[in-house]
Amino acid sequence: MMLRWRDAMERALYGPNGFFVAGANPAAHFRTSVHASPVLAGCLLRQLVALDEALGRPARLDVVDVGAGRGELLRALRAQAGPELAARLRPVAVERAARPNHLPPEIDWRPEVPARITGLLLATEWLDNVPLDVAVHTPQGWRLVLVDPDTGEEARGPALPPDDTAWLTRWWPPAPAAAPMIREFVSAGGSDPDVASLIVAAEDGGAGGGGARVEIGRARDEAWAEAVGRLERGLALAVDYGHLRDARPVDGTVTGYRDGRQVPPALDGSCDVTAHVAMDSVASAGERVARCAYTLVSQRAALRALGADGGRPPLGLAARDPAGYLRALAAASAVAELTDPAGLGGHLWLWQPVGVPLDPLVAR
Ligand SMILES: C[S@@+](CC[C@H](N)C(=O)[O-])C[C@H]1O[C@@H](n2cnc3c(N)ncnc32)[C@H](O)[C@@H]1O
Repeated sequence: MMLRWRDAMERALYGPNGFFVAGANPAAHFRTSVHASPVLAGCLLRQLVALDEALGRPARLDVVDVGAGRGELLRALRAQAGPELAARLRPVAVERAARPNHLPPEIDWRPEVPARITGLLLATEWLDNVPLDVAVHTPQGWRLVLVDPDTGEEARGPALPPDDTAWLTRWWPPAPAAAPMIREFVSAGGSDPDVASLIVAAEDGGAGGGGARVEIGRARDEAWAEAVGRLERGLALAVDYGHLRDARPVDGTVTGYRDGRQVPPALDGSCDVTAHVAMDSVASAGERVARCAYTLVSQRAALRALGADGGRPPLGLAARDPAGYLRALAAASAVAELTDPAGLGGHLWLWQPVGVPLDPLVAR
């Protein structure tokens, strides 16, 4: 059975035996910034306090976490909030997976984003798990890539629908083609038969690959715009690994994670299947709904602005307060992990304010 990638991914992650809904604990398979450290919650709490002030300290302050995993971030935020703020917080986890046992009853658990939100809407590593289509360039133009979820085998499908073609035209400009580069190599004296077959594959587009392969982010744009549209006043924040228009990945990014390892993306529900997010197109879609400018920076820059301090504690503290020194050392290494530009620090933070004057990079 051949499916569009979007449908195959939907089934693999959220179908009857889907990876996220059949009981897998995401933290056992991959590590997100939320799993990495309470430092993240501390920074987000500073941001929440600034937002609360900008909103005039409403009697009910919503904190909605879309794609909440096991509710780890909401738990950490509640644990770190002072009593006055905690009493006004309304934490809501939006998840397709079932409510975990032992979640505090104060945390609401739902399958849909609430209709009207005043406060903070969070989406950490949600959008990369929103299923998307894959397309390949062929001499006849762009074609959807179809995939057999049982074998992973791919084939060319129908021509791209007009909405997807419009998305590609705007957001994923063509990369330099492979074929001319290979031809240059041949004309410089290469006559290897393997290279000759590469030329054929590149010119022909191959079955599911060979020609330029792209991931169509329209489904993520729509999901984000829909969520932002539920904010009456407040701030939406998406954190994810992503890319921008002037540096799209050459051959796509779809991959899998299982038991803490990166693996080929099996579509049978046995692993996470994920693809990087075109964060600028997501940002533009949210901005259209919010009618308010967005801010997009690296996680490293965001956490620094929100007060994450990666400096080592002074050695003198070790003599005065050994336990305090060890705590400070652990916090510093957590910040180092969260801000490593080659790892979690390279994630992108997209802030979208709605109806509230707020510079998201200034926390109190
Ligand atoms: C990679 S996990 C991230 C979990 C957590 N936010 C973190 O950063 O550790 C993505 C989660 O998003 C959930 N998810 C995906 N699409 C969703 C949707 N439309 N509504 C609610 N949850 C969704 C999945 O079930 C999964 O638990």
